[in-house]
Amino acid sequence: MQKKVLIVGAKGMLGQALVQVFAKDIRYAVSEWDREEIDVTDASDAEDKIWTLSPDIIINASAYNAVDACEENDEEYVKAVGLNGEAPVFLVRVAKRIGALLVHYSTDYVFGDAPVIDDGFSEDATPLPNCRYAQSKLLGEKGVASVGGKYYIIRLSKLFGKPGASAIGKKSFFEAMLEAGKTKDEVNVVDDEMSCFTYAPDLAQASKDLVESEDAYGIYHLINESPVTWYDGVVELYKQAGFSIKVVPVTSETFPRPAKRPKFSVLRNTRRPLLRPYQEALGEFLSQA
Ligand SMILES: NC(=O)c1ccc[n+]([C@@H]2O[C@H](COP(=O)([O-])OP(=O)(O)OC[C@H]3O[C@@H](n4cnc5c(N)ncnc54)[C@H](OP(=O)(O)O)[C@@H]3O)[C@@H](O)[C@H]2O)c1
Repeated sequence: MQKKVLIVGAKGMLGQALVQVFAKDIRYAVSEWDREEIDVTDASDAEDKIWTLSPDIIINASAYNAVDACEENDEEYVKAVGLNGEAPVFLVRVAKRIGALLVHYSTDYVFGDAPVIDDGFSEDATPLPNCRYAQSKLLGEKGVASVGGKYYIIRLSKLFGKPGASAIGKKSFFEAMLEAGKTKDEVNVVDDEMSCFTYAPDLAQASKDLVESEDAYGIYHLINESPVTWYDGVVELYKQAGFSIKVVPVTSETFPRPAKRPKFSVLRNTRRPLLRPYQEALGEFLSQA
């Protein structure tokens, strides 16, 4: 019998990749829900709709990702808390009621102010956020864990892939830098923030593998290997794309922004098979661009 999997935020960058991975496996019946089908910040509506569908697996790829907007605007922060902090708790509660597994995603930014650990932060390192967005994501992590039941919280960083399909779907960093590379002779890129890129299709496949693994519930780090700065990533991008544009390394102070970004937020995956280095994933991304 097919397992029912509900993907919430199905039109987002990660959501679309998750739909692709699950839909091509006939063992799953996939429901793709985004804003039109559900508002996950409306607890009773969300719970009623999910209860009616009664999925075996709920994957929450919806999120509030406007890092700077919620740092400087209190109304935006309320939205961030609603979507990142409170909605995952409604979802894990309903998952528990119907006996479903919840898969939820979080971020390397939860380690924004944590003391640097040479090899990176393992899954049980203690988070210490340094911006409101990260606080809202950590609230969601803690809320899910406190309700408990069957859940996987997967932390990732610097997601890239096909842009979200909604009207406000953001392009990934690599796509924006490819466009810049076509029109400029020189680009300045931040070289003092170190973390891992995560290719959405690789993360989607690794999420499915985790769901099928029956590994212990809890927190996982699923990122492509080979941590780099944004500058390193752009040098690699232009090398692979055959662009000869000059790339200038600069500090993050060159581009002041309302929310602080972590200087070092390398996630270490100690619990699951490692994903391939980001350079290989980037090659695949470029071959499909
Ligand atoms: N992007 C990154 O670099 C990054 C880094 C670290 C962690 N993450 C995490 O990875 C996960 C996936 O991120 P992503 O970049 O794929 O997100 P995304 O592209 O912004 O997609 C989120 C989707 O959720 C939808 N959505 C928003 N509010 C909703 C609501 N109230 N009810 C139902 N759906 C709603 C969005 O619709 P609209 O587009 O219409 O708002 C969008 O289609 C998130 O948990 C995120 O925090 C992302």
